[in-house]
Amino acid sequence: MGLYIFGILVPLVASLFLWNTKSGKKRGLPVDVGGEPGYAIRNYRFTHPVETAWEGISTIADLFEQSCKQHSDRRLLGTRRLISRETEVSEDGRSFEKLHLGSYEWLSYGEAFEAVCNFASGLLQLGHGRGERAAIFSDTCAEWFIALQGFFRCNITVVTIYSSLGEEALCHSLNETEATTVICGRKELKKLVDLSGRLDTVKRVIYIEDDGVPSEASLIERSTNWVVSSFQKVQGLGRENPVGAYMPVSSDIAVIMYTSGSTGLPKVG
Ligand SMILES: *[C@@H]1O[C@H](CO)[C@@H](O)[C@H](O)[C@H]1NC(C)=O
Ligand SMILES: *[C@@H]1O[C@H](CO)[C@@H](O)[C@H](O)[C@H]1NC(C)=O
Repeated sequence: MGLYIFGILVPLVASLFLWNTKSGKKRGLPVDVGGEPGYAIRNYRFTHPVETAWEGISTIADLFEQSCKQHSDRRLLGTRRLISRETEVSEDGRSFEKLHLGSYEWLSYGEAFEAVCNFASGLLQLGHGRGERAAIFSDTCAEWFIALQGFFRCNITVVTIYSSLGEEALCHSLNETEATTVICGRKELKKLVDLSGRLDTVKRVIYIEDDGVPSEASLIERSTNWVVSSFQKVQGLGRENPVGAYMPVSSDIAVIMYTSGSTGLPKVG
């Protein structure tokens, strides 16, 4: 009988003990970071909110440089070049575009870092002043990311604009942020040409070539006083005239992001 009681009592006491220590050790503790109380929680193992996994890394620009040094030979950006596009008509009469893409071509972290540094130097060479904002108005692609990181390294605030945004919204976003340089893809270049008369702050346009120099490039040069350059050219300019980075601090603004919103002009986030 005594053995039976022992057999029940020991697990009971043990589980009570475990239960107690568990409830006594809360994994998330509330922390005051301003704003409404109760929303911010930190891990109990740290004495303050964790901002970064690496000592001394507090901005995205720092984080990118650190990652590139650490993983130099690993793959980062993969691109499939456009080989051809054709329009197919389905049985119900709807037509859709079919793209033939090549196999992935990779940039390693090391190569991407070099591309970012070259782009940043080229941008300053092209005349983009520090303190001026720049916009990226294009579909996401390797160049989109390289430009973003290039701006970060120069402490240039980037305005990101959805490539599907309408004319009014585009004018509004560029005007409101007073962006002076715009990075765009080929189809966005057409939109910019159409609106050039209304984009008072824009001084430079850098286009990403997907298949050769677009015809709009020369048209822009003739019809506006913008400096127009290809992305590759800017990188080449930077390679020949390297400029040191102007790294931001964590209180600097990295990105002004426009979302389409459901009504009216786009909202900034
Ligand atoms: C980054 O740029 C902003 C805006 O031009 C400026 O106010 C800030 O001082 C700069 N930060 C650093 C670390 O130079
Ligand atoms: C651009 O913004 C200025 C004020 O910042 C305003 O006066 C002007 O009308 C705006 N232009 C457009 C095209 O929105």
